[in-house]
Amino acid sequence: MESAEGRNETPIVELILIGFGNDPELQPLLFLLFLVIYLVALSGNLLIIVLVVADRHLHTPMYYFVANLSAVEICYVSTTLPRLLASLATGDRTISLHNCYVQFYFYIILSNAEWLLLTAMCYDRYLAICHPLRYTTLMTGRVCCHMVAWAWIYSISYCIMLHVFMLQLVYCGPKDIDHFFCDFAPVKDPFCADTNILQLQTFYFSVILTIGVFLLTLMSYICIIASILRIPSGTGRQKAFSTCSSHLIVVTLYYVSVMTVYIVTNFSPPAIVYKIMSVWFAVLIPVLNPVLYCLRNKEVHQALRKALQKLAALRV
Ligand SMILES: *[C@@H]1O[C@H](CO)[C@@H](O)[C@H](O)[C@H]1NC(C)=O
Repeated sequence: MESAEGRNETPIVELILIGFGNDPELQPLLFLLFLVIYLVALSGNLLIIVLVVADRHLHTPMYYFVANLSAVEICYVSTTLPRLLASLATGDRTISLHNCYVQFYFYIILSNAEWLLLTAMCYDRYLAICHPLRYTTLMTGRVCCHMVAWAWIYSISYCIMLHVFMLQLVYCGPKDIDHFFCDFAPVKDPFCADTNILQLQTFYFSVILTIGVFLLTLMSYICIIASILRIPSGTGRQKAFSTCSSHLIVVTLYYVSVMTVYIVTNFSPPAIVYKIMSVWFAVLIPVLNPVLYCLRNKEVHQALRKALQKLAALRV
C-alpha cells in the first residue's frame, strides 16, 4: 500500500480529492448544505439512541437494533463529512495516501455493518410476525447481542482481509481523485500491477454473499407480508404492519440504492453521476433512517413525548 513511482515519475504520497469543483460561489453553499445535513444526521441518530437507552418501553430487540443502526450511521457520516466540510471551508483538498486508506477502510467496515444490521432487523421482524409464539424464546437479549457482535466481527474481518490484500498492491493511480471521499471505485486502475486487479476480483465473492443475504431478506418479507394478509381483523393487520413498515421502507431504499449503484457503475458513468449517488448513499441515507423511524412509529412518538414532558418538568 505504499506508493511507488507514479505514472509521472513522482512517488504519490498525497492525493487530491477534487470534490465538487472549484466554483468559488458554490463552495460556501455546499459547505452550509453539508453542515446542515451532518448536524441533522448527528442529532437525529443521537436522539434515537438516547430515547432507546432512556425509555424502558423501547428495551426490545427491535429497538436495540435501531439504536445500534443509529450508532453506525453516526460513525458512517463522520468518516466522510467532516473531511469534506474542512476542505470546502479551507479550500485545501489534499489528503495523504495513508489517511485516504484509513478513510476507505472505515467506510468499508461501516457500510458492511449497516447492511448486516439491517439484515438482523429483518430476521427480528420475521420472527416477530411469522412466529409470534416463539418470538420471545428465539430472540432473547443474548441472541440479539450475538447478532450485533457478529455484524461487527464480519465487517472488521472483511476489512482486515481487504487490507492484507491491498498491502501487496502499490497505488500508482491518478493523483487527483474525482470524488469527495476516498473510495477507489471511481478510479479506473489505481494499482500498478494489472494482474493484481484480477485478484481483487476475488473479492466479488462478497457479491455472492450480498445476493444470498438479499434473497433471505426478500423471502422473509414475503413471509411477513403473507402472514399479515392472513390476519382477519383490519386493526390487527394494521398493527402488525406498523411494526415493520419503517424497516421495510429502509431496507427497500437500501437495496434499491445498492442495485442502482452496482448497475450504474458498470456503465462507467461520468464522475458527477457517481458523486450524486454517493451523496445519496453515504450522506442522505443516514439522515433518512432516523427520520423514517421517528415519523412512522407510535412507540417512538410516545417515548419522545414523555422525554419532552420530563424535560419541561425539569425546567419549571
Ligand atoms: C446494541 O445492541 C446491544 C445488544 O442487543 C444492546 O445491548 C445495546 O444497548 C445496543 N446499543 C445501543 C447504542 O443501543
